[in-house]
Amino acid sequence: MKYRTIGTDPQHRREVSVLALGAMLFGSRTDEETSFAVLDRYVEAGGNFIDTSDNYAFWEDGGQGGQSEELLGRWRRSRGVGDEIVLATKLGARPLAPGTSYVDNPEGLSAKVIRESAERSRERLGVEKIDLLYAHIEDQRVPLQETVGGFAELVAEGTVGVLGVSNHAVWRVERARALAAAAGLPGYQVLQYQHSHLRPRFDVPSDLFPDGSLGHAGPELLGYLRAEPDLTLVAYSPLLTGAYTRQDKPLPPDYDHPGTPARLKVLREVAQEADATVNQVVLAWQIGAELPVIPLAGASSVAQLEENLAAVDLELTAEQRGRLDAAH
Ligand SMILES: NC(=O)c1ccc[n+]([C@@H]2O[C@H](COP(=O)([O-])OP(=O)(O)OC[C@H]3O[C@@H](n4cnc5c(N)ncnc54)[C@H](OP(=O)(O)O)[C@@H]3O)[C@@H](O)[C@H]2O)c1
Repeated sequence: MKYRTIGTDPQHRREVSVLALGAMLFGSRTDEETSFAVLDRYVEAGGNFIDTSDNYAFWEDGGQGGQSEELLGRWRRSRGVGDEIVLATKLGARPLAPGTSYVDNPEGLSAKVIRESAERSRERLGVEKIDLLYAHIEDQRVPLQETVGGFAELVAEGTVGVLGVSNHAVWRVERARALAAAAGLPGYQVLQYQHSHLRPRFDVPSDLFPDGSLGHAGPELLGYLRAEPDLTLVAYSPLLTGAYTRQDKPLPPDYDHPGTPARLKVLREVAQEADATVNQVVLAWQIGAELPVIPLAGASSVAQLEENLAAVDLELTAEQRGRLDAAH
């Protein structure tokens, strides 16, 4: 395994494995035995960066979520896991009532929610301190100042380490970080956005993003990452949930554009040259990128995880990387 650092504060920054493990479906779609086996193998291979959220996976049973955090809590206890494992969770997008969603009824990012939801997450996970806590989605009803202050209080109290943000417009990330910096408070240092080798269209509206997706790492986000050396990008859904290699998982409609076949062609060429799978080339391309990118992949079997772990040791040549970067 290889490692990189998230955060800058010497008291809170952490060394994390270059491949993060997504636990979104653990305890719901992925049963306990399989989830534990995947977690155990990930840790055995040197992985130490696990991602969840207080709302995972509410859509699986129409509830409010929490199954994933609870499963991680049981796994930690049963394995005697301590603070060597870096746990990241998120708040803000938990539905306030069963049968609703983050689109119509999210908990949001008030100081009260931040305090109370972080406390519930700590209980479910069985930890004193959340190593990395994200704002999951925007809350435009609450002044940013309040959200920034709410997160900073938890860091000051020692119950949260590093702060992160997901699915926010870049201008709101920058404004929140500027507010924090001006007040001498900790700001977001980990950006969690969808990022893979294929590029999506950004203008496809959805219920959450009527003006087009704010959840994908686009040119503005990548430029921001390049400009601000304290930031790390955690790239969610890097394997497009399996669509690169599986007939049963078609590419999402926002990848249906003329740039996609060119990117796929180069990916397949490089995979063949490197005697690797396309999934491994995607992950290796991210892990070895010039910008600090940590792919965050899910796995519903140990076999999938094994394939993904092997990407850590796949070294692409500069020429291959150049071709992968340039295809469009
Ligand atoms: N911040 C956010 O808003 C946000 C949004 C989404 C996800 N996330 C985080 O990102 C993590 C990963 O996201 P994701 O699950 O959407 O994306 P992903 O990593 O692209 O896909 C994981 C799924 O892809 C399939 N898969 C994984 N490895 C495979 C392999 N080697 N070969 C073939 N298929 C493979 C499996 O599907 P099957 O189980 O169907 O076999 C697996 O469940 C989540 O667990 C969550 O922590 C964050």
